Amino acid sequence: AVSRTFSIIKPDATRRNLTGAVTKMLEEAGLRVIASKRIHMTREQAEGFYAVHKERPFFGELVDFMMSGPVVVQVLEGEDAVVRNRKIMGATNPADAEEGTIRKTFAESIEANSVHGSDSDENAAIEIAFFFDEGEIVG
Ligand code: CMP
Repeated sequence: AVSRTFSIIKPDATRRNLTGAVTKMLEEAGLRVIASKRIHMTREQAEGFYAVHKERPFFGELVDFMMSGPVVVQVLEGEDAVVRNRKIMGATNPADAEEGTIRKTFAESIEANSVHGSDSDENAAIEIAFFFDEGEIVG
């Protein structure tokens, strides 16, 4: 069924002017951008968004990285959007990502891995609500 997911184009990608290139790959994978904004995350936003990872050893660096430059937060719509987006993103670690995926094509490291995508429909709803009001989403 048609559903929604949440995506972030991360600072390593915006720094290299890859917002359009990444978005093109999302669109070619059958996803439609129904909300989008470029923001510079505050510490509060980065820590809040990644709160599920706060006990992980990489949490501090992850938060610093996500605040290191602008990001583009997006709501994506499409048939099985969460799964579709995870497929086009590729594995978290670009070394493990398949050919033709966003992370294989663009990511620099497991941290600077160019994109985030929700891992379930439940988390997609939570993550969308973290950054967007319903009125900002135009399906
Ligand atoms: P993301 O999907 O945004 O969710 C959490 C992020 O932590 C993940 O992508 C990675 O970019 C980042 N990260 C940094 N180090 C690690 C690690 N060792 N294992 C997993 N994720 C990591």
